Amino acid sequence: MAISETGVVQSERRWALAMAVVSVIFLTAILYAAIAQHLSPPSNVELIDPATIHVSGEFAEDNLGTRLEPEGGVVIRLVTTQFSFVPSCVVVPQDAPVTFRVVSPDVIHGIMVVGTNVNTMIVPGYISRVRTRFAEAGEKLMPCHEFCGLGHSQMIAKVRVVPVNEFKPDADGRAHCAEP
Ligand code: CUA
Repeated sequence: MAISETGVVQSERRWALAMAVVSVIFLTAILYAAIAQHLSPPSNVELIDPATIHVSGEFAEDNLGTRLEPEGGVVIRLVTTQFSFVPSCVVVPQDAPVTFRVVSPDVIHGIMVVGTNVNTMIVPGYISRVRTRFAEAGEKLMPCHEFCGLGHSQMIAKVRVVPVNEFKPDADGRAHCAEP
């Protein structure tokens, strides 16, 4: 059966239109997630000067660790550096919204909390942010998963998830890991 040239052109137009519609649907879904639901890649969202991280501002030493937020939930501020996490243990309440905010003053590191969705690179110059919730109490390991130098394999921290009634922040809303 012969297909006329007009038929071929019409068929191509239909497919082109179908693909255009699919592309618009995908683009709309991405924009909706980014704008309405504030879903963006966990790394490379906010900028920070790696040279002054430890001197002042959000990641000065006094501000690191777990802090209860006024709206509920906790924020964990961490500095990843060759070859440790500061602090090396953080405590969080069970089943509460948790936001990690992590920076690096030196090279690229990575964090993951085993068995959770927390998994991101830490790129100098950017603040990495990850939101999660820990359903079970207990201690979880948080290793660096980006090769960062000779001490990479020693670079590991802990997340201690405690039942809400055992989570006791101080007057400033800060909580620290009790000594084991
Ligand atoms: Cu830090 Cu590997």
